Amino acid sequence: VTRSKLVKDLIEIVGQANVLTDPELVRPYAIDWTKRWSGSAELVVRPASTDQTAEVVLACGEAGVAMIPQGGNTGLVGGSVPPNGGEVPNAIISLTRLNSLEQVDQVDRQLTVGAGVTLEALQDHLTQSGTGLAFAVDLAARGTATLGGMLATNAGGHHVIRYGSMRNQAVGVEAILPNGKEISRLEGLLKDNAGYDLPGLLAGSEGTLGIVTRIRLRLVPRLDARVTALIGVDATATCVSLVARMRQELPSLEAAEIVYEDGLNLVCMHTGLPLPLPRSWPTYLLIECAGIDGREAGQLLEFLESVGLPDGSTAVAMEGPGRQRLWAYRERHTETVNRLGVAHKLDVSVRPSLLAEFEAQLREVVRVHAPGSTLVLWGHVGDGNMHVNVVGPGPGDDTVDDAVLRLTARMGGSISAEHGIGRAKTRWLHLVRSESDIDVMWALKRALDPAGLLNPGVVLPPA
Ligand code: FAD
Ligand code: MLT
Ligand code: ZN
Repeated sequence: VTRSKLVKDLIEIVGQANVLTDPELVRPYAIDWTKRWSGSAELVVRPASTDQTAEVVLACGEAGVAMIPQGGNTGLVGGSVPPNGGEVPNAIISLTRLNSLEQVDQVDRQLTVGAGVTLEALQDHLTQSGTGLAFAVDLAARGTATLGGMLATNAGGHHVIRYGSMRNQAVGVEAILPNGKEISRLEGLLKDNAGYDLPGLLAGSEGTLGIVTRIRLRLVPRLDARVTALIGVDATATCVSLVARMRQELPSLEAAEIVYEDGLNLVCMHTGLPLPLPRSWPTYLLIECAGIDGREAGQLLEFLESVGLPDGSTAVAMEGPGRQRLWAYRERHTETVNRLGVAHKLDVSVRPSLLAEFEAQLREVVRVHAPGSTLVLWGHVGDGNMHVNVVGPGPGDDTVDDAVLRLTARMGGSISAEHGIGRAKTRWLHLVRSESDIDVMWALKRALDPAGLLNPGVVLPPA
């Protein structure tokens, strides 16, 4: 099948306006959010339904064109864009038109969404529904990240300590496999053990096994009584022990995040926000408790008092704008670092009990392997998840990435806590997955995608 035949077939399926071939229009889809990963694509195609997605997959398969599923393109490991110099021509399949938002089912506490719905659109829909229900996962890319992309990466975000990650919110999934066939479990059954969990396989598969078209989501009670606190402390170890106590004593704990003095100062410079506390602290712990009445705030304040924190080390907010301001110190780290240059982004986890020791060794490893670079650390401290950002080494220089990931693996951690493997981390998968693990992953990949056309080069290292 020639390129022009493929373009003609795709236009027949989705209409002229939804097949982009002009390189100027294609380019923004082919470069990732961090600007570290980019490649070239023949075209972008934008199906608007499950059936159109199936037809697009068949047409691309027949033409021998590799398919790169893309949602909001906020992924941070290069999985949503084509490779730089791939073996076969690429088509980016943009799923953002799969944006149906169905009615909230209040009794079952579920709803079905199209894969292209953004997290923010879902949040707004739930607020407007007046059902008193909410979605459990939240993250800073909410305005652009799609539910399909979030499931495909098994996104984590701020509330994992309370509700788990994306995988835990998907009651069911509908998807198109590389052979154009559909699998679907959208019945909304909480208990259904009839065989292998095929749709469940797609959580965290990063667009390599199937294209997610719809998701049946679990909802949780909307907790509007919220209290947020930013606490200045001496070191990571103090944050870890405070969070361990909070998990024991504050069942309403929903988020426990960590940032450091240098990162917070950069955020203030970039955003114009004032310093949050009367003096600077080496480390800051951001926590949020949530419930249905005001008791959580009282419990948190009592807890903080019982810990005996020094005067002026804590800022507390209970209303929207104040809470959002405290969150900005944490959430705006990503864009701040992007401003500094092309960051080497490593998203690692260790057991929380090892986090302080890990941090100490990490700083030394970065000092040795990327001398003169800027290291900005932050993360989801309750999950033992540290975001390691190194700005300085060139985009193609992996020395510091290698050293940090090896350190993480030596400490029994994971080389990807929540962002996925993408194209960025395939080389290091063997550090945390055995040969037989990787063989099984390849067997699954070959069984579902024998021609290897769905997001090749993502997740799995070359066989
Ligand atoms: P994309 O970037 O478009 O794609 C990501 C991967 O999923 C790719 O491999 C792609 O091929 C695949 N994919 C996309 N849609 C589909 C589909 N429908 N079917 C099959 N495969 C698909 N991540 C976290 O986990 N926690 C955070 O706290 C967090 N915060 C972030 C903050 C900022 C400011 C930014 C920029 C990113 C953040 N991320 C975070 C990373 C990113 O937002 C998430 O990984 C998100 O899940 C990606 O969604 P997306 O729609 O943009 O997917
Ligand atoms: C975060 O928690 O800030 C995100 O995962 C994004 C990032 O690591 O930059
Ligand atoms: Zn994160």
